[in-house]
Amino acid sequence: MAVPTNMRTGAVLGGRRRWTKWIQWIIIVVVLGEMVFLFHLDQLNGEYFNFKSFAALNFSLDNDVEHRAEVIHKDDSVNRSNNESCEEWLEKNDFLGYGRNFSKSPIHVAFGENQVWDSCAVGCKFRSTVSESFRPDGVLRAASGLPSWMEKESCHILRSMESSSYYPENDLTSARKRGYDVVMTTSLESEVPVGYFSWAEYDLMSPVSRKTEGAYAAAFISNCGAHNFRLEALEGLKAQGVRIDSYGQCLRTREGRGVNKLQTLRRYKFSLAFENSNEDDYVTEKFWQSLVAGSVPVVVGAPNIDNFSPAPNALLHIKSLNDIPAVARQIKYLASNFTAYNETLRYVT
Ligand SMILES: *[C@@H]1O[C@H](CO)[C@@H](O)[C@H](O)[C@H]1NC(C)=O
Ligand SMILES: *[C@@H]1O[C@H](CO)[C@@H](O)[C@H](O)[C@H]1NC(C)=O
Ligand SMILES: *[C@@H]1O[C@H](CO)[C@@H](O)[C@H](O)[C@H]1NC(C)=O
Ligand SMILES: *[C@@H]1O[C@H](CO)[C@@H](O)[C@H](O)[C@H]1NC(C)=O
Ligand SMILES: *[C@@H]1O[C@H](CO)[C@@H](O)[C@H](O)[C@H]1NC(C)=O
Ligand SMILES: *[C@@H]1O[C@H](CO)[C@@H](O)[C@H](O)[C@H]1NC(C)=O
Repeated sequence: MAVPTNMRTGAVLGGRRRWTKWIQWIIIVVVLGEMVFLFHLDQLNGEYFNFKSFAALNFSLDNDVEHRAEVIHKDDSVNRSNNESCEEWLEKNDFLGYGRNFSKSPIHVAFGENQVWDSCAVGCKFRSTVSESFRPDGVLRAASGLPSWMEKESCHILRSMESSSYYPENDLTSARKRGYDVVMTTSLESEVPVGYFSWAEYDLMSPVSRKTEGAYAAAFISNCGAHNFRLEALEGLKAQGVRIDSYGQCLRTREGRGVNKLQTLRRYKFSLAFENSNEDDYVTEKFWQSLVAGSVPVVVGAPNIDNFSPAPNALLHIKSLNDIPAVARQIKYLASNFTAYNETLRYVT
């Protein structure tokens, strides 16, 4: 039986030194690989990298990076010369010497499941199988069931963007018990959070369009069996006189096929950003697209959604069904008072 990581003995930990030295590079490689993968699939799922949480890993390079950033700000000796592009300047000043030659010894990651990983910050190789000649630094799998040499020598990585209410195996505590060393989920408490937000993906600075639709809000909900109360919330708002155009599979009132979601949202004052689970940090494109569209998000989802808000009062939060009457009143009030509505979109201008 596999022993959970946190219960392993000191002797075994000794054997784990090999990967801990390179953990930061494994993480960078996996994160970048992930970005490339998502890019290739042309998915909506952006990636963002939480440097604060990355720093929490407390590896030795951190201090250097911070120090260097300070140097760039304060030290005149790094002035950009006339013939140098910003990129060249940044690369020169951000340069870190590595203790491992990654061209010669690339980071090996196993069980990449035939994904496309053709770009890494440092040399890397992803394989779907392992062998003595491909000893992985990191494996995208828990320790259990792996050959014992691999169990000891590799860093075990879990990577998923699904909520743990739907996929209990993504719960941090449970993942760590199963032997994962590095968890990559939407949770900001995971070692490497992989959120849906991405500057590249979402044009948050785009101008606001005229609100031309008669209904207050648009909804795009297509999984009608969600684990939270989102459908009840939609019905509750309607019962309170909030006119909603529903384009998704659930409680549909308007044809949704062939409709461009973002362009459609732009025409509505409000957008129902109803997630399929209410879990901290689980904030998907439903929320980000509403902001991009300049449509005030009405949120059912992450209890800590305020932490993701671009400004105070930029969203309406239905924490429980009890909030429906108050939120419905607020929607109607904002829809009738241009000045007040305009203030909720202040972050755009
Ligand atoms: C980070 O590492 C430094 C030096 O290795 C140590 O003094 C400090 O306590 C560590 N911090 C955390 C939060 O583990
Ligand atoms: C860098 O630029 C600052 C501000 O223009 C100037 O005062 C300083 O002398 C420059 N340093 C060097 C090394 O050229
Ligand atoms: C910029 O000018 C310096 C000194 O004239 C030279 O050494 C350097 O190669 C130039 N860099 C580029 C990118 O042209
Ligand atoms: C790293 O390895 C490559 C390939 O073996 C070699 O060409 C290169 O010179 C090495 N770089 C350093 C800095 O040793
Ligand atoms: C409309 O909103 C503005 C700004 O919040 C507020 O000052 C004003 O009193 C509101 N007008 C009405 C009629 O409620
Ligand atoms: C808010 O009102 C100001 C002044 O009328 C206008 O310039 C701005 O574009 C409005 N902002 C939004 C988001 O409608």
